[in-house]
Amino acid sequence: MANTADLDALRAQISADIASAETLESLDAVRVGALGKKGSISAQLATLGKMTPEERKTAGPAINGLKNEIAGLIEEKAAELRDKALEEKLAREKVDVTLPLSPAPSAAGRVHPISQVLDEITAIFSDMGFAIAEGPDIETDYLNFTALNFPEGHPAREMHDTFFMKEDENGERKVLRTHTSPVQIRTMLSEEPPIRVVIPGRTYRHDSDQTHTPMFHQLEGLVIDKSSHIGQLRWVLEEFLKAFFEVENVTTRFRPSFFPFTEPSMEVDVQCDRSGKDVKIGEGEDWMEILGCGMVHPNVIRNCKLDPDVYQGFAWGMGIDRLAMLKYGMPDLRAFFDGDKRWLDHYGFKPFEMPTLFGGLTS
Ligand code: DAH
Repeated sequence: MANTADLDALRAQISADIASAETLESLDAVRVGALGKKGSISAQLATLGKMTPEERKTAGPAINGLKNEIAGLIEEKAAELRDKALEEKLAREKVDVTLPLSPAPSAAGRVHPISQVLDEITAIFSDMGFAIAEGPDIETDYLNFTALNFPEGHPAREMHDTFFMKEDENGERKVLRTHTSPVQIRTMLSEEPPIRVVIPGRTYRHDSDQTHTPMFHQLEGLVIDKSSHIGQLRWVLEEFLKAFFEVENVTTRFRPSFFPFTEPSMEVDVQCDRSGKDVKIGEGEDWMEILGCGMVHPNVIRNCKLDPDVYQGFAWGMGIDRLAMLKYGMPDLRAFFDGDKRWLDHYGFKPFEMPTLFGGLTS
C-alpha cells in the first residue's frame, strides 16, 4: 500500500515531468504515464480495492486528490503550451505592414498612345451618334480597290504601295488593306441606310521613314442617307477636331483633291501654329493637312447595290498615328512600334483613366 511519502514522491516526479514537457505531445506522454490505464496514479487507485475500509478512508482521498491535482496541472500546462504554439505561429506569420507595397501590374502598365487616341476618337464619334464598324486586315483586291471605283490599271492603285499576297488557286491576289475604305463597302453591303459609322483599323503600305511605317492606323468615317451634304461633313469634322485637340475653336480649309471613291474630293487643312517646337492647333497662321474626305462617288453607291439617285453621303479618312503625334508631341512614328518600355513609360497612359467626353479625354 502506498504511504504518504510514496505519493509525495510520485507527485514530485510527475510534476517535474509536466514542468519539463516542451510540447503537447510530450505532455500527453506524461499524462498517459500517470493517468492512463497503466499509469502510475491509476496503479495507485487500483490498490484501493484491496484496502480495509479504514485504510481506504485516508488513502482514497489522498490518491484521488493527487489524481485531480495532476490532471489540473496537465490541463494548465496544456493551455500554456497551446498559447506558446500560437504565439510562435503568429510570430512566424507576422507581416510587416510598414513595408512598401510592390506596385500592382495595373499601376505599372501603360496604355499605348495609339490605343489611347483610338479610345478618345471613338468616344467623340460615339457621342455624335456614330457606330463602330470593322473589317479584316487581309482584304480582297475587289473591296480594297475595284468596288471603291479604282479602275483596273489606274495609277492610283500604284500610289498605294500595296503589299500583295500570293495568288490563290483561283488566281486571286488578296492584299493587306491599304486603307480602311473597303469597310465602307462592307458596311453598305450589310446595313440599311441611314448609315453613320466610324471605322478604326490597321492599314499597310510599303513605306518607312520618320512619318511613315509599313503598318499604320486609320479612322474612316461614313455617312449615307437621303439628304446628307457637305455642310454636315464640315460640321462633323470641325466638332471632332475641337473635341480631340481640346480647344475652343478650329478653322479648317477644304482644298480640292482627288480620290477615286469620292466626288468632289477634298483635303482638309487645319489652322495651326508651327513656330514653336510643337504644333499648336486652334491658333497661329499656318496650315496643316489632316485628312481626306468627299461626297461618296455614285459608282461606289451603285457598287453597294444602292441607288445613287436616292442615297448620297460623305466619307473621310485620317491617320490615327499622325493625330496622336500631333496631340502628344511625339516626333518619330517609328518609335510607336519599337516596343521600347522606356518610350511607353514616357508617352503611355494610365490604364484606368478611360477617355470620356464628360470625364475629360485626357486627365
Ligand atoms: N482612303 C484614303 C487614303 O487612305 C483616305 C480617304 C480619303 C478616305 C477620302 C475617305 C475619303 O473616306 O473620302 O488615302
